Amino acid sequence: MKHAVQALIGAQWGDEGKGRVVDALAKEIDVIVRYQGGANAGHTVIVEGKKYVFHLLPSGILYPNRLCVIGNGVVMDPGQLIKEIEELDPSPDSIGTRLVVSNAAHVVMPYHKKLDFLSEMSRQKSSYGAIGTTGRGIGPCYVDKYNRMGIRAEDLTEPELLERKLRMNIEEKNTVLEKLYGAEALKFDELYEEALEWGCFLKPFIGDSSAEIDEALRDGRNVLFEGAQGTLLDVDHGTYPYVTSSNCVAGGCCTGGALGPARFDRVIGVVKAYCTRVGEGPFPTEDLSSVGETLRRNGAEFGATTGRPRRCGWLDMVALKYSVMVNGFDSLALTKLDVLSGMDEIKVCVSYEMDGYSVTRFPTSAHLMENVTPVYETFASWKEDISGCREFGALPQAARDYIQYIEKTSGVGIGLIGVGPGREDTIFRDF
Ligand code: GDP
Ligand code: IMO
Ligand code: MG
Repeated sequence: MKHAVQALIGAQWGDEGKGRVVDALAKEIDVIVRYQGGANAGHTVIVEGKKYVFHLLPSGILYPNRLCVIGNGVVMDPGQLIKEIEELDPSPDSIGTRLVVSNAAHVVMPYHKKLDFLSEMSRQKSSYGAIGTTGRGIGPCYVDKYNRMGIRAEDLTEPELLERKLRMNIEEKNTVLEKLYGAEALKFDELYEEALEWGCFLKPFIGDSSAEIDEALRDGRNVLFEGAQGTLLDVDHGTYPYVTSSNCVAGGCCTGGALGPARFDRVIGVVKAYCTRVGEGPFPTEDLSSVGETLRRNGAEFGATTGRPRRCGWLDMVALKYSVMVNGFDSLALTKLDVLSGMDEIKVCVSYEMDGYSVTRFPTSAHLMENVTPVYETFASWKEDISGCREFGALPQAARDYIQYIEKTSGVGIGLIGVGPGREDTIFRDF
């Protein structure tokens, strides 16, 4: 294996096809690590016609003998994780020995989801507007983490400590729920019982994920970090405030997965051949005409977590170049190229126009982003069905031109091309 440690990062607004690319690479990977986000993620993998959507389990879990890690940077919803574990047939390769949940991963509690919902409702009524979150309690859970009052996975197996932490949280949350939102108060007993049950189920999985990763590397095994969401949803580098609450960029792997930057060999960016976005926030190339509708229909662009229709539009090179810059991609995986087959033409945004000026630098402030107009270059499309292509040379000339244009403009080579949702619908080039 050429690379001992790799990071795989969404280069746009999420749903680039990270799950399917991880699955395609996992054949040659020993350890797969989720390092940020939570059950807001929805990573789809299709194997032999069967569809799996992972929200918390790393997408390499379908390969036997892989060690799958839920790192300390993840906010873990125990009910969702238990459901995912139970849904996968654990035999003959028992999940127990190959899943590690970091003892330091924070636990998403039912009150985080409640607060997520109530905060969205209240923002909706304000002039500021809602974020359009997934409602999975992500923001409120990270707030508690950084406010140093969060409950961590390890606490679920320590009844006394759990009781003290939960009582402190319930007191604080009840004040907010009752006084700020006029909502019903939480009951300690119910929550405590539920949390103890989660602890019993998850105890065999909870461990020191950093030590496990380090040990694997010492044993000569290789590791892939699986990003959730995407660069433009990163809390620092995305279109703030319309972002998620974690660092989705490559740098997040170091803190969320506990590995120093010098140990990474390669950073892969996953790019959809066009753009989508779920939830609110600026999206310069969003197409509200029949073109966007066609992309949504042909690409089946409906949220894997919430089922919401995804907003669709053309590829945005200003945004992609920004993503290359903040992540330092060494290689790109281009997904959903097949979705562009049969379009009358293909457009790519090459710059923005703002107040009469041409802008080529991505403005991360949502406020500034609202005022940009995309400037497009038009490319020829192709009519052929490319889903059966397994080599770059087998693609129509127009498709090859499109790929080479993206490589040249982004400055990064495309090593993997998705021509369909299935595991085998993949073209590998120097990967
Ligand atoms: P993720 O969150 O980045 O893992 O992406 P999602 O799973 O949320 O969304 C990607 C969607 O596109 C899923 O329904 C995949 O099955 C599908 N998909 C991924 N790659 C391809 C591809 O190359 N072609 C087609 N047609 N569909 C793809
Ligand atoms: P994957 O890993 C696409 C979006 C939400 C919302 C914003 C904040 O499947 O690519 P949150 O619930 O995180 O507080 O919502 O981020 N969002 C995603 N969009 N794919 C995802 O994950 C997303 N996770 C969150 O729609 O706009
Ligand atoms: Mg998704």
